[in-house]
Amino acid sequence: MQFDLSEEHLMIQKAAREFAQNELKQGVIERDEHQKFPTEQVKKMGELGFLGMMVDPKYGGGGMDTISYVLAMEELSKVDASCSVIVSVNNSLVCWGLEHFGNEEQKQKYLVPLAKGEQIGAFCLSEPEAGSDATSQKTTAIDMGDHYLLNGTKNWITNGNSASTYLVMAQTNAEAGHKGINCLIVEKGMSGFTVGPKENKMGIRASDTHSLMFDNVKVPKANRIGEDGFGFKFAMKTLSGGRIGIASQALGIASGAYELALQYSKERKAFGKEISKHQAIQFKLADMATRIEAARLLIMQAAWLKDNGLPYDKESAMAKVFASETAMWVTTEAVQVHGGYGYVKEYHVERLMRDAKITQIYEGTSEVQRIVISRQVLA
Ligand code: CAA
Repeated sequence: MQFDLSEEHLMIQKAAREFAQNELKQGVIERDEHQKFPTEQVKKMGELGFLGMMVDPKYGGGGMDTISYVLAMEELSKVDASCSVIVSVNNSLVCWGLEHFGNEEQKQKYLVPLAKGEQIGAFCLSEPEAGSDATSQKTTAIDMGDHYLLNGTKNWITNGNSASTYLVMAQTNAEAGHKGINCLIVEKGMSGFTVGPKENKMGIRASDTHSLMFDNVKVPKANRIGEDGFGFKFAMKTLSGGRIGIASQALGIASGAYELALQYSKERKAFGKEISKHQAIQFKLADMATRIEAARLLIMQAAWLKDNGLPYDKESAMAKVFASETAMWVTTEAVQVHGGYGYVKEYHVERLMRDAKITQIYEGTSEVQRIVISRQVLA
């Protein structure tokens, strides 16, 4: 068993840390406040290879392993979780899904620009009445011979407006249940496809989350991923890796808040000494550090299993549920350590606390992760 990082891993971690500190930190409060999409920052992340980290270089990606991706996600998320969710969805859900299940033509046409960071993608599963219960898709893709006719609405779609390529799950044969679902590649600009208004969110406010409407959109048959009826399994397999990305985002949010609280505790004085010299604060910092380390180990285990071609569905769910609950707990404690300053925007921890909440909800709620875990432990 080996716990140290390779030279290459350390280099990627350092590059992501420097990029986050030098390029993402500035303006993060304003982007959050005004829900301003980080266009410039996304462009730079694309140029630096953060948007297609794990994709084979022959398709324009960085050819890195999942551990590298986790390390980068943690560093980016410490500073700006709105940017890191864009990175996570593009890497884990869109690029990974296309690379592993798309055909060569789909990879050349759609994966290459996404992996190079020239475009970004979106993953469209959730619906107004199908969030956790993902088999209950109401969006339909009727088989018309050479194309599908797509109708329905998707909700809470990350990169909803900024994406160019959308992986859309839709029901082709309702009687077949989950085996009747297909995943179609939809392009921005296809006739009948409209993007709804931006959601006014509690956290990750700079990322663009929208509903999407499909009204008789003609999607060529060539845009279906995999065999007829593969869409639900495609979504589940893709989300399993996506959960490692969101767990890493939660880890970054937690460790970012912890680092701020640690620093603040050494500066702020109360009752005649730095608050870090009071045991009440010391115990909080000890618990924060311990939970963060436990989350990191679970995430690294899931990433390692994935990199080594071993099953990781249960471990990615464990990593996500534990890391997201850690993020919520640690950020709340970080606000507490900061006292009144923690409740105002300039100190960053209130934003991290708001951002932490979404990690317990998207890419499967904590309850969904527990369904995945309990089914495996009881099997
Ligand atoms: N890999 C491969 N196949 C899988 C699988 C996996 N990880 N998980 C399930 N399947 C297969 C099952 O084997 C089963 O196939 P068979 O019938 O052939 O055996 C089929 O899929 C149906 O599985 P279940 O019976 O387990 O399905 P279920 O209805 O009980 O649901 C669930 C299980 C885990 C709750 C699932 O619905 C789920 O994960 N829901 C949450 C969805 C989710 O994460 N949504 C978030 C969307 S993305 C997002 O957040 C947007 C964004 O922009 C970030």
